[in-house]
Amino acid sequence: MGVKIVDTALRDGSQSLIATRLTTDEILKVAPLLDQAGYYALEVWGGATFDTCLRFLNEDPWERLRAIRKACPHVKLQMLFRGQNILGYHHYPDDIVEKFVELSAKNGIDIIRVFDALNDVRNLKSAVDACKKYHVHCQIALSYTTSPVHTVDYYVELAKKVETMGADSLCIKDMAGVLLPATAYELITRLKKDTNLPIELHSHCTGGICQMTYLKAIEAGVDIIDTALSPLSGGTSQPCTESFNYALQGTEYDPHLDADKLNQAASILDKIKQKYLKSGILKVKALGVNPNILKYQVPGGMLSNLMNQLDKQGAMDKFDDVLKEVPKVRKDLGYPPLVTPLSQMVGTQAVMNVITGERYKMSPKEIKDYLLGKYGAAPAPIDPEVRKKIIGDEQPITCRPADLLKPEFEELKKKYKDIAQSDEDVLSIALFDQVAINFLKKKYGYSIEL
Ligand code: CO
Repeated sequence: MGVKIVDTALRDGSQSLIATRLTTDEILKVAPLLDQAGYYALEVWGGATFDTCLRFLNEDPWERLRAIRKACPHVKLQMLFRGQNILGYHHYPDDIVEKFVELSAKNGIDIIRVFDALNDVRNLKSAVDACKKYHVHCQIALSYTTSPVHTVDYYVELAKKVETMGADSLCIKDMAGVLLPATAYELITRLKKDTNLPIELHSHCTGGICQMTYLKAIEAGVDIIDTALSPLSGGTSQPCTESFNYALQGTEYDPHLDADKLNQAASILDKIKQKYLKSGILKVKALGVNPNILKYQVPGGMLSNLMNQLDKQGAMDKFDDVLKEVPKVRKDLGYPPLVTPLSQMVGTQAVMNVITGERYKMSPKEIKDYLLGKYGAAPAPIDPEVRKKIIGDEQPITCRPADLLKPEFEELKKKYKDIAQSDEDVLSIALFDQVAINFLKKKYGYSIEL
């Protein structure tokens, strides 16, 4: 059977190494080759791709998806979906989640990888139900992190729970690249024994251990691994597809990818990569190994964010202090996994704690909302003193956060009928407000004031 491969170059590779700047034209140069290379799926959409299309590339993300679908009639197309946050940074009502799943499927997505930053399964439910309704393969991803509560037992129990929720497959999503080889072996072995789900592993090379982790996972029976075509692999991205294709050749795990097709696609993508190296978007630092992430558990993307924030405030000398503060903030806040949007929130809080010289003197609004339960349940109890300092005596909600949100699709459709020409446009506005409105105005040549 061999190990199945999902290539992430066009989504996570682009996001991890070149700030998601890969354009649709560039993607279409390699897509037909990747379509025929023998992959299980291509990860092409979701994460930051939608945001970047609208905000920086002046591209319609829905048109991108349709174009990729047209260029790839054979291979499955996969997207990343942040549960109730969809592709945005806060919770959206259930009708928006459902509509987004429906139209993603309609425009060409076969597999939706749904995750919640806190692994609060209540935040996955409406996305899972919508996948079932619209016959999309629903993969539930568990946000992997390490902490006193995030043990192998914790993930096995969580996996059993998502299996009963109706997941079609399971992904261990190690966004920071901190899953150790021996832990991966133990975890995958247990998951194969205790669930009937196909298991996929997603990790990053940032800490320099990812290839070892993948190999141990393969030996433990992992079904699918995420790798990226060579030009957008390594560093803060996934391991290289071609290398795994060679490494496993002739073994029972042989993925049987078409090496010629991969080679052709890689040489095209390599030329594109040179452009981003020259322009400085691809930083040499992002291509190296950073074992510090294993110590501080800070994902690669978050590291560069922190550097930017400190640089802007002329406080780069505080970088090490902030790096040390991050795990402390995480502990205070009940060990949230550091993935979007929690990674940005915890990072900003750590910066504030260091810069102001007094811990929790200031807090971003999102951290207040987190303490008020608006992102879901924290994995472990929150430090009571920290809670008191940030939200005083305010009482957190204990229900599923989206239970408090009213449906809004029809209302938005009516409100923006002059600018949204399709339900897809309405969803772009629902997720990205003014950014989407500005884009649509340009797209349709409207000069009306809204
Ligand atoms: Co990733």
